[in-house]
Amino acid sequence: MIMSRTEAPRDEAAGDLADQLLGRLLDGLPAEAVLTDPDVTAAYANDMASFCAAGAPAVVVLPRTVEQVQHVLRTASALRVPVVPQGARTGLSGGANAVDGCVVLSLTRMNRVLEISPVDRIAVVEPGVVNADLSRAVGEHGLYYPPDPSSWETCTIGGNIGTASGGLCCVKYGVTAEYVLGLDVVLADGRLMSTGRRTAKGVAGYDLTRLFVGSEGSLGVVVRAVLALRPKPPQQLVLAAEFASSAAACDAVCRIMAGGHVPSLLELMDRTTVRAVNDMAHMGLPEETEALLLAAFDTPDPGPDLAAVGALCEAAGATSVVPADDAAESELLLQARRLSLTALEAVKGTTMIDDVCVPRSALGRMLDGVAAIGDKYGLTIGVCAHAGDGNTHPTVCFDARDADESRRAHESFDEIMALGLELGGTITGEHGVGVLKKEWLAREIGPVGLEMQRAVKTVFDPLGILNPGKLF
Ligand code: LAC
Ligand code: ZN
Repeated sequence: MIMSRTEAPRDEAAGDLADQLLGRLLDGLPAEAVLTDPDVTAAYANDMASFCAAGAPAVVVLPRTVEQVQHVLRTASALRVPVVPQGARTGLSGGANAVDGCVVLSLTRMNRVLEISPVDRIAVVEPGVVNADLSRAVGEHGLYYPPDPSSWETCTIGGNIGTASGGLCCVKYGVTAEYVLGLDVVLADGRLMSTGRRTAKGVAGYDLTRLFVGSEGSLGVVVRAVLALRPKPPQQLVLAAEFASSAAACDAVCRIMAGGHVPSLLELMDRTTVRAVNDMAHMGLPEETEALLLAAFDTPDPGPDLAAVGALCEAAGATSVVPADDAAESELLLQARRLSLTALEAVKGTTMIDDVCVPRSALGRMLDGVAAIGDKYGLTIGVCAHAGDGNTHPTVCFDARDADESRRAHESFDEIMALGLELGGTITGEHGVGVLKKEWLAREIGPVGLEMQRAVKTVFDPLGILNPGKLF
């Protein structure tokens, strides 16, 4: 290729910068923790929202210590190089996608559980600890870390904190934010800041801990977290109810919540999702139903609660109400639910997954609206939902090689968010904004809110090197 005169110096400058970056990084990191082979670094370019824009990282670093993370941030600040923090890259909004020439800062090797205290009911962990590993570790002490995203066997606590993840348990136990008591954060300039506490209470100053939860790596890099734990509840028992329409299932959800019940999960799978899961995993779920509702209780004696909820489902028109025989059958039903997104991906090859959360009372209108949007655009939109939270995942299934279908998929995806906002909801209940919903954040929070969010970003990251191009 013949270079023009104006291009040559710029490429040289880029080459110089890359050399400098590498040289400086290697001053504070072992060579095995610095990856530069483009075939390898390309594997770190994106999270699971792979159709979102993603650049090519200049380098991927895999630190093991807080000091090494500080060194990476100091280097990046000195050279004005963007840094994209990453966990297991199971995110669904492109929040961990690389930008061209960035340092991908993978926290996966900082994966130690540092402390578990049954008295204080806390765990202190590094960000790369896998969610399910933490659950198992605290379980050995009779404790429970509730937040349980469907990807819990692979996703990391750092990623969960970055996106303020939810999961199936939230209807009873709440989301990640409610379990993060304190953080150690490496700031953009390499300084180390501690926020929050390890006490049961604490109101000293602004709640910077909460600010960092859900900040998608845009304000600093979490290197340690103090997490609240609960006593481990009994194994939950699940009841499966079938409905002839989503509206009837949503009516049951409203009756259950208004009735004062506290299920440990309340999940919905529509017919498309049920069929997709059966096709993939042969789970034997009932396919001739429009909506399958799963309700569970993890109380010592769940029988009466399950019976009461079963009766409410019947009152809402359930065509079948079947409690699981035991904990093992309950776990199988949950596995089926957790497989929903993967199964829907197989329907057409690509999915765009919405994460609209509406007030529970609007859930029925939301699902009817999604069905109408699917009809309007001639698309398959499977829905699974954390119904008890009003948190829906309408999942647009499409063939990314088909330009017209892709266009319709994008339009319907947007229309679903517009509908969510119209119903008093939010564009994202638990997956975050990332790249995917950038324009929509502004619509949800308005210009003043956006200005304040940008101002906060500037305080923590004046050079704009931390995960640029995400959120807004
Ligand atoms: C779930 C993920 C997609 O609920 O949030 O399965
Ligand atoms: Zn979810």
